[in-house]
Amino acid sequence: MLVDAQPRRSLWPSEQRDALWVIDQRQLPHRLAIERLDGVEAVFVAIRDMWVRGAPLIGATAAYGLALQAHRDAGDAALQAAAQHLGSARPTAVNLQWALQRMLGRLLAVPVAERRAAAWAEADAIADEDVATNQAIGRHGLPLLQAIAQRRPGPVQVLTHCNAGWLATVDWGTALAPVYQAQAAGLPLHVWVDETRPRNQGASLTAWELGQQGVPHTLIADNAGGHLMQRGLVDIVIVGCDRVSAQGDVCNKIGTYLKALAARDNGVPFYVAMPLSTFDPAIEDGLRDIPIEERSPRELTHIGGRTADGQWAEVQIAPIGCGAANPAFDVTPAALVSGLITQRGIVAARADALRALTEAKP
Ligand code: MRU
Repeated sequence: MLVDAQPRRSLWPSEQRDALWVIDQRQLPHRLAIERLDGVEAVFVAIRDMWVRGAPLIGATAAYGLALQAHRDAGDAALQAAAQHLGSARPTAVNLQWALQRMLGRLLAVPVAERRAAAWAEADAIADEDVATNQAIGRHGLPLLQAIAQRRPGPVQVLTHCNAGWLATVDWGTALAPVYQAQAAGLPLHVWVDETRPRNQGASLTAWELGQQGVPHTLIADNAGGHLMQRGLVDIVIVGCDRVSAQGDVCNKIGTYLKALAARDNGVPFYVAMPLSTFDPAIEDGLRDIPIEERSPRELTHIGGRTADGQWAEVQIAPIGCGAANPAFDVTPAALVSGLITQRGIVAARADALRALTEAKP
């Protein structure tokens, strides 16, 4: 997608194939900081500390992390240890494990001497497939927006939560892919952007990338969504996901569940954009079994931003010594989900439908 009118991906390998370039998303929207990651530990830190974030992007980043490992030592033990370390960086998004297992499966099956080239090729394939997947999600989601546009005049009003745009993926995004396709198709639309406390990925990332892309949007407090739905100002909710269970329960950024409840109460369709790399058939009951990341209380008690003189500063907004709990994800039960937009089409959030979709030949 576009940054300063130039097309960009969110990560790319160095020409010499000895490092990975990423955008340090902690610095957005104030600074486009490009960082060079030159080894497994640097990749681990970038994922753990959310320089890169978003389920598909952390999977692709970890894949390149294993390529960096293979660059130095491609033996079985070294690759397995690196995969275990990278996999421990964040617990909730299943794409991280998915990408690491795919890399290990490919690399351990070839002689050590061939692993370095194979690792870069496989990581490239994961990144390229992510782009194609998200484009397909966009194509399948577009008719939902076109149908709304045909029903009434005025822009289609989409509400989204957190950042499931191109910054959360290698390109295009998941939840925002239908929005970008609709924009390309000339559909009038407008996006309500949940700020997404406590890390504010909506305010800092989604608002930024929609602005770069020229999509009309308005930032709202997380608590405003239900009110807007009651006023008839939201046509459709589209969110991303970090792990979807076999029966269609959707784990996504904290606060998603409340949007789904408000959508149900107001008859607003609630769709989830789901690349199949985010589907976890090993977990049946998402509420019970999906691991929920607990992040630092500091994300709640403090807030950072740009001061009037252009410097970055952090201030405390809660009383000194105040305790804070910070679960980073929640689970929306399948019954509240209108449909899952995948690269193979839209599927009901139901075990039988998901089984049929994932077992069918692509
Ligand atoms: O904690 P994050 O920022 O890595 O959370 C991931 C997300 O951005 C969202 O949960 C998103 O909707 C799913 S990733 C496309």
